[in-house]
Amino acid sequence: MCKVACIGTSRALVVTLLVGILMSVTAPRAEAARAFFVFGDSLVDSGNNNYLATTARADSPPYGIDYPTHRPTGRFSNGFNIPDIISEKIGSEPTLPYLSPELTGQRLLVGANFASAGIGILNDTGIQFVNIIRIARQLQLFQQYQQRLGALIGPAQARQRVNQALVLITLGGNDWVNNYFLTPISARSRQFTIPEYSRYIISEYQKVLRRLYELGARRVLVTGTGPLGCVPAELAMTGSRNGECAPRLQQAAAIFNPELVQMLKELNREIGSDVFIAANAFRMNMDFINNPTKFGFVTSKVACCGQGPYNGLGLCNVASNLCPDRKVYAFWDPFHPSERANRLIVEQILSGSTQYMSPMNLSTIMALDSRT
Ligand SMILES: *[C@@H]1O[C@H](CO)[C@@H](O)[C@H](O)[C@H]1NC(C)=O
Ligand SMILES: *[C@@H]1O[C@H](CO)[C@@H](O)[C@H](O)[C@H]1NC(C)=O
Repeated sequence: MCKVACIGTSRALVVTLLVGILMSVTAPRAEAARAFFVFGDSLVDSGNNNYLATTARADSPPYGIDYPTHRPTGRFSNGFNIPDIISEKIGSEPTLPYLSPELTGQRLLVGANFASAGIGILNDTGIQFVNIIRIARQLQLFQQYQQRLGALIGPAQARQRVNQALVLITLGGNDWVNNYFLTPISARSRQFTIPEYSRYIISEYQKVLRRLYELGARRVLVTGTGPLGCVPAELAMTGSRNGECAPRLQQAAAIFNPELVQMLKELNREIGSDVFIAANAFRMNMDFINNPTKFGFVTSKVACCGQGPYNGLGLCNVASNLCPDRKVYAFWDPFHPSERANRLIVEQILSGSTQYMSPMNLSTIMALDSRT
């Protein structure tokens, strides 16, 4: 008598379970993974500049040649950039550029990328690129984003999603390369010595990070500058003979990076929590620049795409020399690492020792944050 009903119940249970499993497989991963927000310059811009009237853009071939679509996306890479690979590691979809018209509805839950190629800590950095989203504006847009997210899921939920998010900020390289050292004698280099300028941009950077904290960021990866004097553009520009790195740019990075680590420590002490995590991009890059073959590269001096000495002059475009195998080049274009180099960098962000990540790496952050 109960038989039919019992079978019915257990069948219903099986169906419910199956639907549950199917839903968890097909539901957008957005809700499972934490949100991810990206701020900064071309090293992390995923295409915002495509929507702006600027010359700082990567929207023509062969950019994107190794991207899944094999088309340019605005990323300054042959394929994925650092934020894409971090998204992959945290089990999330890539963040869309904030200016993308596709960034609406449920997609807002994934986070957003506010980065814009050419910008720096200072407002006068990258003025030659005209219309780019300077850092103060990126923070305003983050505020606007939070209002839009609040309208979707409610202000309290939106606040929580932002507090629990991972944030990446990459700034500072352009304040040297595209400002202080842009011309042999620049306004900034007449105004400041290298150590003075470093101290000045660090103090301005601290204001930016304080604001980011006020806006709700609670886990922020802050990358220092790479070895600025070793990029193919600088090797070409300074007339490097045997690939030796430009000394003044290397000196600038050697002064700026430790000061940045110190400043982040101070901020954390003030806040009373490890909000800001320093990523030693200088060392991460130096590993494969000093020892390319150990990492499977044939060169760390010559860009895959470009022209002139070291393929370091001008921009990468359809008329440039293009290497056949992007995987064996550390630099994709005169300034930016290849996707493979980006993967090596993210590997260290994820599981590097305290010499690379201080006070802790991203694996440790994820383990800590999943417990709360
Ligand atoms: C840059 O511009 C923003 C807004 O236009 C301003 O709030 C900020 O103080 C400026 N930064 C510097 C270093 O002058
Ligand atoms: C970094 O991450 C790895 C896990 O991938 C962990 O074993 C290691 O102890 C971490 N290193 C530090 C210094 O936190």
